[in-house]
Amino acid sequence: MIPEIEKLLNDQITYEATASAQYLSMACWADVNGYNGVAEFFYTQSEEERVHMTKLVKFINERSGAAVIPAIDKPRDDFKSLLELFEIFLESEEFVTAKINNIIYECLQHKDYNVHNFMQWYVAEQLEEEATARTLLDKLKIIGGDKSGHYLFDRDISTFQAPEE
Ligand code: FEO
Repeated sequence: MIPEIEKLLNDQITYEATASAQYLSMACWADVNGYNGVAEFFYTQSEEERVHMTKLVKFINERSGAAVIPAIDKPRDDFKSLLELFEIFLESEEFVTAKINNIIYECLQHKDYNVHNFMQWYVAEQLEEEATARTLLDKLKIIGGDKSGHYLFDRDISTFQAPEE
């Protein structure tokens, strides 16, 4: 495996692990504040990020690289509102997308079409996750400070679908 690309993939493991821990922390906040639907949403998101991370770990090791499991910072656990929770969710996904796009760019620079091909799954996944984050954030902006709106958002979050790309 090209060392520069291996390094970028290992960095990506850190970003996916960080997102997983952050979403688990957000699930906890939602859980203790009575937003059970939102909690379930973020428990699931956290699991998905762990899958993203593990997929990278296995890929690196299978391609004669060496995956490194990183130490990660304690995730944020103080949030002012549901709105802030979903703002952080979107920011996190945008950050991850930028990092994935950078890997794609570097793969092309190094003519590493193997990793380029592997990363296409992440590109598609990011499109979907960003769309979901934007859809939910838009709904919360419409709801504003309306408490009954927050109640309904929490009740119905599992039914909200991101628009098809
Ligand atoms: Fe794996 Fe949502 O970034």
